[in-house]
This record gives sequence, structure tokens and C-alpha cells, in this order.
Amino acid sequence: PEIIFITTSGDEMRASIPVGTTLMRGAIESGIDDIRAECGGVASCGTCKIILDEANQGKISPASAIEGSMLEDDPSGYRLSCQIVVDPTMDGLVVRVAPAEY
Ligand code: FES
Repeated sequence: PEIIFITTSGDEMRASIPVGTTLMRGAIESGIDDIRAECGGVASCGTCKIILDEANQGKISPASAIEGSMLEDDPSGYRLSCQIVVDPTMDGLVVRVAPAEY
């Protein structure tokens, strides 16, 4: 599936990400380097956050407890891209890369 990322500078970048790969891994392999993913994908750093608009929030399975605990202080729509595994229904999904927090 093709995922459309809006980078923190507002650019639109399209990434073909294989089913079963996380959004984080797929973005990085596609050169979307403002997803820093410092912890390597174990839901502990929060530097892989993306934002889903309201229409898309219901298309992705809800956050696990560990993911949710990393998003406690964020508005709704924030997710950890390392915890979202791409499936075929996500083709054309638009996600915004969250601005860095520090
Ligand atoms: Fe660290 Fe996702 S890569 S929380």
C-alpha cells in the first residue's frame, strides 16, 4: 500500500510500504527522515509520532496500553508510527509527521 506522509516542513511524500511493515520502518526506508525513531521501534522514545486526522483515526486499530501510555499528553489523533503495522486497507492513508517535542 501507498502511504502519504506530510512532513514537518509541509512536504507531501509518498511511500510504498510492504504489508506487515510498521509505518515507522517504511517511512525511514523511504527517506522520510523527520521520523527519528530513536528507540528503534519499541514504543519508548516517542520520536516517531504521527497524527491521523479524524476521518482516518477509525481506520487504524486502537493503540495498545503501552502505546497509549506514551501518548497520554497528546491530543487525539497522535499515534506511534512504530506500533502501526501496515495492512492492505491503508492504501492512500494520509498521516502527518508530528512536530519534534524537543
Ligand atoms: Fe520509539 Fe516509536 S520508535 S516510540
